[in-house]
Amino acid sequence: MIQIEKLRKTYRSRGREVTAVDGVDLQVREGEVFGVLGRSGAGKSTLLRCVNLLERPDSGRVSIDGQDLLSLKGGALRRARQGIGMIHQHFGLLSSRTAAGNIAFQLEVMGVPRAERAARVDELLELVGLAEQAKAYPAQLSGGQKQRVGIARALAGRPKVLLSDEATSALDPETTASILELLRDLKLRLGLTVLLITHEMDVVKRICDSAAIMRDGRLVESGPVRDLLLRPGSELARGLFPLPAPNVRPGTTVVDVTFEDDSADQPFVSTIARTYSIDVNILGGAVEEIGGSRIGRLRIELPGDPDINAAQLAHLRESGLTVEVHGAAGVVAAEARTETEVLS
Ligand SMILES: Nc1ncnc2c1ncn2[C@@H]1O[C@H](COP(=O)(O)OP(=O)(O)O)[C@@H](O)[C@H]1O
Ligand SMILES: [Mg+2]
Repeated sequence: MIQIEKLRKTYRSRGREVTAVDGVDLQVREGEVFGVLGRSGAGKSTLLRCVNLLERPDSGRVSIDGQDLLSLKGGALRRARQGIGMIHQHFGLLSSRTAAGNIAFQLEVMGVPRAERAARVDELLELVGLAEQAKAYPAQLSGGQKQRVGIARALAGRPKVLLSDEATSALDPETTASILELLRDLKLRLGLTVLLITHEMDVVKRICDSAAIMRDGRLVESGPVRDLLLRPGSELARGLFPLPAPNVRPGTTVVDVTFEDDSADQPFVSTIARTYSIDVNILGGAVEEIGGSRIGRLRIELPGDPDINAAQLAHLRESGLTVEVHGAAGVVAAEARTETEVLS
């Protein structure tokens, strides 16, 4: 649905050059929620602005539904833009207009005839659960309600694609959850494809089908969330299952084991302990419900160095578990970084 190829955008200001987006390839499939995670300054907003053409990339391609956006001009460009809704962290509402007025304004800008506007405003308010607040001004609305107006406004042009730039970053956790639920519901009801950017792991956990991690203008990791979580060395997995940097005591093997639905039912800790007559220490872990799957990560400690535990490690791998060994050959260099260093 959204296809981004070799996208590049460099800013030049006061003799300084910043390559905000540095060769990004990204595909968002129809009907999915794709989350781009990254620290402040990673280039996330620039990437999004290149998709709705608020910003013109230096090079690369952006196409939506097979249509090459960068080749469009005039009316065709305006129409394509209407098919892309956008919501923002700070809502961007007009304070002098009511909730209904803010949505009506958007319809006005898009050239919807006056006679059709009122009914459409009601429909949009209903859609985001704000029918009762139609006459309220932004100052009288909570953050969550303001974002609902922002979402209704973004949907005014009946878009197929919704872009979200940190839409829940200014909201408390409870309101965040309700807005994410609304987005997921709207996605299903309206058949939307959503590209969102965030720095919150919770957003990925709750609604993203796929995700990418962006750093210094590049995507360092990208794919379906489930696949990333089961990939050894994944930063996303470290972010979703934060465990402290491992402290590997000499003569022991520390292993992170990631498991999902089926393998979660295997008592692999006791199986290993029994089969090899060893004591297995549990150092930490968590289980999360992610995209309808139960995925978990457990850190265990086995007696003896990793080479002594070769059979045990092979056993775990052969049981369909993702196995990462700490402090031994084969551990990715980034392993010791903690989640907070990676993302926030
Ligand atoms: N209009 C601009 N002019 C100059 N530099 C910019 C502009 N917009 C963003 N940048 C720079 O590009 C980089 C990426 O910014 P941005 O896309 O806003 O990142 P993020 O949304 O991930 O925080 C930053 O170094 C930022 O300072
Ligand atoms: Mg930003």
